[in-house]
Amino acid sequence: MKKTIYDVAEAAGVSISTVSRVINNTGRISRSTRQRVHAVMKELDYQPNVHASALTGKRTNIIGLLTPDIANPFFGELAKSVEERAGELGFSIMMCSTDRDPKKETTYFSVLKQKSVDGIIFATGIENQETMDALEDIAKEGIPLVMISQDRALVPMDVVVIDDFMGGYLATRHLISLGHKTIACIAGDGSTTGEKDRLKGFKKAMDEAGIKADETLIAGSGFSLECGKKAAAQIFKSNIPTAVFAMNDVLACGVIQTAREWGLHVPTDLSVIGFDNTFLAEMTDPPLTTVSQPIEEMGRRAAELLAEEISGKKSSKSKIILTPELVVRQSTAPPFKKEAHAEKSGF
Ligand code: RIB
Repeated sequence: MKKTIYDVAEAAGVSISTVSRVINNTGRISRSTRQRVHAVMKELDYQPNVHASALTGKRTNIIGLLTPDIANPFFGELAKSVEERAGELGFSIMMCSTDRDPKKETTYFSVLKQKSVDGIIFATGIENQETMDALEDIAKEGIPLVMISQDRALVPMDVVVIDDFMGGYLATRHLISLGHKTIACIAGDGSTTGEKDRLKGFKKAMDEAGIKADETLIAGSGFSLECGKKAAAQIFKSNIPTAVFAMNDVLACGVIQTAREWGLHVPTDLSVIGFDNTFLAEMTDPPLTTVSQPIEEMGRRAAELLAEEISGKKSSKSKIILTPELVVRQSTAPPFKKEAHAEKSGF
C-alpha cells in the first residue's frame, strides 16, 4: 500500500506538520530532523503527491469546509488559507457555503458525512436543533471537527478564534482617542460569538472613557453590504454620530456608501472603522481603518489541528486564541466639525 504523510511522521517520530515543513522546505527544522525525515521518506518510498495519497488507506483525504458566506472576503481569504495548508498536508477541500441558512447547514453536514470526509472545519454558528442533531451525528461517528471564528464548542472539538473582545475594545478605544464621543456600533444578526464579544469590548471601552453607550446607536440585522447600509440609515435617521464601528469590513463599506448618500464626508463628518482587514479595506475610498484578524494564520492553524486530529495523535482538544491588531488608514480622524466645534463654543 502506498505510504502517506502520516506513515512518514510516525516512522520518523515527528508531527505531520514537521514532515510537511521538510517537504516544502519551510520553517525552522534542525538538520538532524530534516535528515531523519528524508531518510524515512526514502525508506518508505514516500511520494508527496496529494492526489495519489488520497487513494490510499481508509481515508478519503478530503476535508469539508463549511462557511456561512463565501462571498464575504473574510471567508474567501480564510478558505484560501485552509485550502493551501490542507493541500500541503495531503488533503483536498470540499467547500460548502451555507448563507447562514439552517437547512443548508443541516444538508451539508449530512452530505459531508455521506462522502466520508476525514474531518470538518466549520465557521458557522449553529442556531437550530436540526443542525445541532446533524452535528451530534457527526461527532458520534468520531469525525474530527474544528470550529473557526466561532467560540462555541457545542460538541468536543478544537477551536481557532481571535480575541474578539479585544478587537471591539481596540476599535472603540481608537475612536475615543481621536476625540469621538457619539459612536455608533453596527453588528451582524446577533448569532455569532464574535459580534457578541466585540460588542462587549465596545461597551468596555466606552465605560472606561466615561461615555454612556447610546442604545439607539447600536443596530444590525446581518453581515451583508445591504445590512450595513440599512443599519447606518436607521441610525442616521435618529441621530448622526461622529464615528461608526462596523463589525466587519463589508458592513463598513455599507456605512461609507450610506454616509455618501447622506452628504457626509468620511472621515471629516464621520469616522468609520471596520473589522477583519480583508482586501476590501484597501479598496474603499478612503482606505478603511480596521481591526485586523490574522486570517491566514487562522486558516493554517485550523487545517493543522484537523490534520493532527485525523492522524489520531491528539489526546485533548485545543483552543487557539489569536490576537487582533488595529490597522489605521484614512477612514478615521478627529471629529473635526461637530464635537470639536461644540466643545470650543461651550455646547
Ligand atoms: O466578516 C465576517 C465576520 O464574521 C468576521 O468578522 C468573522 O469573524 C465572522 O464573525
